Amino acid sequence: MNKKVTVNTLVEMKQNNEKITMLTAYDYITSSLIDELGVDIILVGDSLGMVVLGYDTTLPVTMEEMLHHTKAVVRGTRRSMIIGDMPFMSYQLSATEAVYNAGRFLKEANAHGVKLEGGNEVTPVVSKIVEAGIPVMGHLGVTPQSVHQLGGYGVQGKETKAAKKMISDAKALEDAGVFAIVLEKIPAELAARITEIISVPTIGIGAGLYCDGQVLVTQDMLGMFEKFVPKFVKQYANLSGDIRAAIDNYVKEVKSGAFPGEEHSF
Ligand code: KIV
Repeated sequence: MNKKVTVNTLVEMKQNNEKITMLTAYDYITSSLIDELGVDIILVGDSLGMVVLGYDTTLPVTMEEMLHHTKAVVRGTRRSMIIGDMPFMSYQLSATEAVYNAGRFLKEANAHGVKLEGGNEVTPVVSKIVEAGIPVMGHLGVTPQSVHQLGGYGVQGKETKAAKKMISDAKALEDAGVFAIVLEKIPAELAARITEIISVPTIGIGAGLYCDGQVLVTQDMLGMFEKFVPKFVKQYANLSGDIRAAIDNYVKEVKSGAFPGEEHSF
C-alpha cells in the first residue's frame, strides 16, 4: 500500500477489476488522512469554490486559488496520485494557455496530473496537454462549469441522442490520451456501457456501481456541507453535527470557567 499511485497503477487496476478510490481534498490535514487510508487519487476539485470558499458555483474559482490549495494538499501526501482541477476559463481560450496552466499544476504545485471538463470540443486541448507530458483526466455528464448552459445540475445522458453523444465524447477523450474519465450524474446503464467500451478507467459520481472507481466530495461524504446533499452522496459521518456540539461545549466551558483546567495551565 506504500507504492505511489501512477497512471500505470490505474490501468492495472482496471485490468484486474480492482476498484479505484478517489476523494477530493483542499488542505493539508485532510489530504494527510486520505493518503494514510490508502485512497488512490486525491482530486483538488474546483468544488473548492463551493465547499471551502463559499461561492454559489465553481465558476469564480481562479488558477491562483487552485494552486494555493493544491500545494497544501501535496504537502500532506506520500502515496496518492494528486490531480488538480483546471478552473473555468483556464483551458477554454486557447491550447497554448491550457498547456501553460496545466503545466503550472505540475511545476508550481507538484501535482501529478490535471482534470478538465468536456467532450469532443476539448479534445484538441487535451491532446496538446498530453503531448506536453501531463496526464489528463476527462469529465463528462454533469460538468458544473457549464451549469448555465445545462440549465442546472440534472442527470445527463438520459435521452438516446444524448447517450450516444456521451459515448462518442468518451471515445474521443480516450483517443486524445486521457488516463481516466470522471462520469458525473448519468444513468448507471450508460456509465456501464462507457466503462465497457473504453480502455481507460471510469470514475463515477452518481453514475452507478459499474464504473471502475468512485469519487465523492469529501465534505459531502463526511456530512459537513449542508447547503444541499445530492442523492448520490452517502454520508459516512455527521461532522457538522460533531463540530457544532464541540464548539457549543467549548463556549459553555469558557463562559462557566470549566476550561482551561489545571492540566491546561502552566
Ligand atoms: O470539483 C470536483 O470536486 C469534481 C468532482 C465532483 C469530480 O469535479
